[in-house]
Amino acid sequence: MSNSRVQAGVSRRGFLGGAVSGLAIAGVASGFAPAFAAPKDAFIDGLIAKMSVEEKAGQLSLYSDPVRTEAATFNPSVASVPKTQMLADIAAGKITGLFNGMGVALGRELQKAAVETSPHGIPLIFAADIIHGMKTVFPIPMAEAASFDPELSRRTNRVAALEATACGLHWTFSPAVDVVRDQRWGRTAEAAGEDTWLACQFAAARVKGFQGDDLKAETSLLACLKHFAAYGAVEGGMDYNTVEITEQTLRQTHLPSFQAGITAGALSVMSSFNDIGGVPSTGNRRLLTDILRGEMGFKGFVVSDFTSEEELILHGFAADGRDAAKKAILAGCDMSMQSGIYMKYLPDLVRSGEVPMSVLDEAVRRVLRVKQAIGLFDNPYRSLDAKREQTQLRLPESLALAREAARRACVLLKNDGDVLPLKKTGQKIALIGPLADDLNQLNGYWVVFPDTRKDITVAMAMRGIVGDGNLNVVRGADIDAPIPGGIDAAVAAAKAADVVVLCIGEGQEMSGEAQSRTEITVPAAQQALAEAVAATGKPVVVVLSHGRALALEGAVRNAQAILCTWFLGSEAGNGIADLLFGDHSPSGRLPCSFPQKSGQEPFYYNHRATGRPQLSETDINYRTRYRDASFEPLYPFGHGLTYGRIVYGPTQLSADSLPWAGQVTVSVTIANSGTRPVHEVAQLYIRDRVASVTQPIRSLKGVRHLDLAAGESKTVTFALTRADLAFVGLSMNWQAEPGEFDIWIAPSSSAGTSARLKLLKA
Ligand code: NOJ
Repeated sequence: MSNSRVQAGVSRRGFLGGAVSGLAIAGVASGFAPAFAAPKDAFIDGLIAKMSVEEKAGQLSLYSDPVRTEAATFNPSVASVPKTQMLADIAAGKITGLFNGMGVALGRELQKAAVETSPHGIPLIFAADIIHGMKTVFPIPMAEAASFDPELSRRTNRVAALEATACGLHWTFSPAVDVVRDQRWGRTAEAAGEDTWLACQFAAARVKGFQGDDLKAETSLLACLKHFAAYGAVEGGMDYNTVEITEQTLRQTHLPSFQAGITAGALSVMSSFNDIGGVPSTGNRRLLTDILRGEMGFKGFVVSDFTSEEELILHGFAADGRDAAKKAILAGCDMSMQSGIYMKYLPDLVRSGEVPMSVLDEAVRRVLRVKQAIGLFDNPYRSLDAKREQTQLRLPESLALAREAARRACVLLKNDGDVLPLKKTGQKIALIGPLADDLNQLNGYWVVFPDTRKDITVAMAMRGIVGDGNLNVVRGADIDAPIPGGIDAAVAAAKAADVVVLCIGEGQEMSGEAQSRTEITVPAAQQALAEAVAATGKPVVVVLSHGRALALEGAVRNAQAILCTWFLGSEAGNGIADLLFGDHSPSGRLPCSFPQKSGQEPFYYNHRATGRPQLSETDINYRTRYRDASFEPLYPFGHGLTYGRIVYGPTQLSADSLPWAGQVTVSVTIANSGTRPVHEVAQLYIRDRVASVTQPIRSLKGVRHLDLAAGESKTVTFALTRADLAFVGLSMNWQAEPGEFDIWIAPSSSAGTSARLKLLKA
């Protein structure tokens, strides 16, 4: 695929020395990563030589920030520490940094204590979960992935970095690059969906956005890839649960997005809460050392996820805190987040010889090198600038980008009878639902320092366009409960209107960490509201809020139009209204399959074929299906309508066969036969028809964005090489096998016509 975005993969031997069979699949475009400047080892090693074992343990101990403006609670609560105690601990060199606090003035005070009073003046690092914006809030990561445009994500995260560093932060615990194939898992909201190729593109773009071109710049925010590894594969979609996975799937599906982030320059990785086959990630030496460093070439440091090193005890992997600290540091987890067990036990573990001093030194070296790489030794007060804090938040251009991102994240699932776009005049609109006008339901999970006062709801935006006279706003129900008289008021409003816009779905607290659901449906009180409104016979446009794919039912599923809007952040209302009234045509695509029913989960488009696939709607006996549902999605990965009429021609190949070291061009002509300009997202898929390890029925390998004026046609092309046809074989190496492949350029993972390509032997 000669797409400007290059596939990232993990090649086992490729990292140990020499890419397998010459396949160049392990990298993202070179020049993408800011250089990790050659560490001044003499300086770092000189420091390490002077440090006591306690100070070394301190450089590996990170705590939540009890002093600056605290984040909203996103973790289990911890005992608060008075500022005097914190300053004393900093002076004693017991703390490497603080997270989830913000503010320049106090940040400078804490940094001054570190630089001027701690034994060797090593600066603190300030971190926070800046996941989709700081003060200007952008769509949740899953929503942003629905743009299918990593460049948009690079831009939004550049703004997030600008604002976060203006608020006294150096390091974000982002991006989450987990590949998620089970929508019951609440954290699907935080990542880029179910596809590995797409996850790679967004991982690289997000790292580049946060870190910029120069890690030492005031506005560069150190990225952290999380959660390593396979956290998105927790059994049953239940958060923190165990992971049972083949090594082949781990390598082919879950590791490439981390590789893409590393190649893009990420210098920190967070270990995940889950175990894989009985070995918790934070104590997994094969994962954190052999694979992450040995094979994937990671040069930064690994931080545990909030007490995950201490949780080795409850996993049944460590006997007590001392044993947990020992197992985690020996596995390659360099920094402990929050538990304090490194500070408590590492000095003694080193003195007793159970942990070699060289292991402790190497972990400290990794942390100090990163502090050096981001310029903290050159300027400990970087990103602690009171003027920037006053002048760089929620700039007009940042809000304009939030609006662009919001509208590009929306996915139009259906639009029967062209009920959309709405008319700006002469149409009476009933705007109904608990998510129509609630400022506290725009951001979604993970906005740690929220300020929603100037955000825009759908009601606000629509009022600005059609005026009060043509808009009747009725709440109708709460998110999870009926409200007295709510349905009656909604039905009356619907009856008096020409069209209903129904803003319903999940509340923002229903996805995110520890928010797994067994039924991924619209909550019952809102479903009842939808049924009553639909019974009026008025056309209904569902504007859906959600942190995951939902199993749509009844009146919601049968509405005339459905617009997926996820959680879009500060400019949610304007972004949605831009589409509802046709100022822009929808262009988002589903990064996750919408199932017909919750019980289909885990559910993803790029599954393997069984020996008994269901081939048509009537082909139901002894077939791969449920009694009450086929194996098909309600809406497939990649699906998304627009206001134009888009027609794809047949997929064409420049040649029927691909020489082993050659290239073919794949092309298709796409026509907009509608009356409006559109932005189309053409998707390249492949299927390896016969392989020594069976391959998915389709896999995404490239994306092209194109603008089409009304009546315009364009031809899009992709170059395809053997690297695009590779998979992880039984030897755990990336390999391609000669044989036949189906190739599509299509508007979704379920559409399009395929062409047959033969990969010739070497
Ligand atoms: C736990 C979450 O799993 C992780 O994503 C987050 O970065 C940390 N808490 C810190 O807040």
